[in-house]
Amino acid sequence: MPLHTPLTDLFGLQHPIILAPMAGVSGGALAAAVASAGGLGLIGGGYGDEAWGGEDWLNREYAIATETSGGERLGVGFITWSLAKKPKLLDVALAHKPTAIMLSFGDPASFSEQIHKAGALLICQVQTLAAARAAVAAGADVIVAQGTEAGGHGASRGTMALVPAVVDAAAPVPVVAAGGIADGRGLAAALALGAAGALVGTRFFAAAEAGGHPNAGERIVAAGGDHTRRTSVVDIIRGKDWPQPYTGRVLVNDFVDRWHGKEAVLTGNLADESARYAEAAATGNFDEAAIHAGEAVDLIHDVLPAGKILSGMTAEAEQILRNLASLPK
Ligand SMILES: Cc1cc2nc3c(=O)[nH]c(=O)nc-3n(C[C@H](O)[C@H](O)[C@H](O)COP(=O)(O)O)c2cc1C
Repeated sequence: MPLHTPLTDLFGLQHPIILAPMAGVSGGALAAAVASAGGLGLIGGGYGDEAWGGEDWLNREYAIATETSGGERLGVGFITWSLAKKPKLLDVALAHKPTAIMLSFGDPASFSEQIHKAGALLICQVQTLAAARAAVAAGADVIVAQGTEAGGHGASRGTMALVPAVVDAAAPVPVVAAGGIADGRGLAAALALGAAGALVGTRFFAAAEAGGHPNAGERIVAAGGDHTRRTSVVDIIRGKDWPQPYTGRVLVNDFVDRWHGKEAVLTGNLADESARYAEAAATGNFDEAAIHAGEAVDLIHDVLPAGKILSGMTAEAEQILRNLASLPK
């Protein structure tokens, strides 16, 4: 008996799972794999660079996703403050008639009307109650409440307390939980908190169809959640101008150990350090180049096809909820 929630109804999903639109990871192949398995597959538009997220890239990856999955249950996620600098990318995404556009990290209000006029639903990822209220006012159809456990960029509130508070504040707009959800236990917990589903990033980074360097998935499997950290040093070295209060959660490595807490010194050494960093990223030297990943790495023991990850997660959640439902009164 599949899990049926307001999220599955709204998007015509078989399972209440959304692939996070991860920059450098969620390309057309991964989005298609999640969509084909009955979830919502969001392509990660990232910073809209030529190598990842730019116009040609977006057209190519969307075509791959459509060919492989049939075109249903697909969308694109953008980093809102970055999209504001390259708004044409929204036109490019909407031309593919996506099911949804997701906006994270910034004010969604100026994009909402264009998204709805094109017939797409608007998903807004937020990290605070205030941002949840603003997203509802801007016309969000779904709110993703993202806790600090999450891989990649985020803020400081934890998933456990944030999700039910956002559920209360956003009602009747459905809320999806994000941050630290990597198996059926997390999905069942999200539903128990009142969420209509889960948005999953780190677990799908260790999927066979994930983009990025092939070594990254194995590093995630080997990593422990005690050794992730929110930091700005990876943004400084890559020249990504993230506004406050966002930091990126990464696996701690030699580079992060060397520079976290010494941001001003790093900023003064950019000329030397950034060439070294770019070389490490290109060759998959993850002692130096960062892997964005969340605390849920503890729960990831293998690199699997995304469809298997999704079906395993939902089957486990269903079993847990069935067991709980049979508690004597
Ligand atoms: C490698 C990686 C890259 C990410 N890139 C983006 C991004 O470009 N845009 C975005 O909205 N969120 C991004 N995120 C955050 C996800 O949207 C999501 O909140 C997070 O992955 C959920 O937590 P989890 O990693 O514990 O599943 C990224 C996450 C990871 C792990």
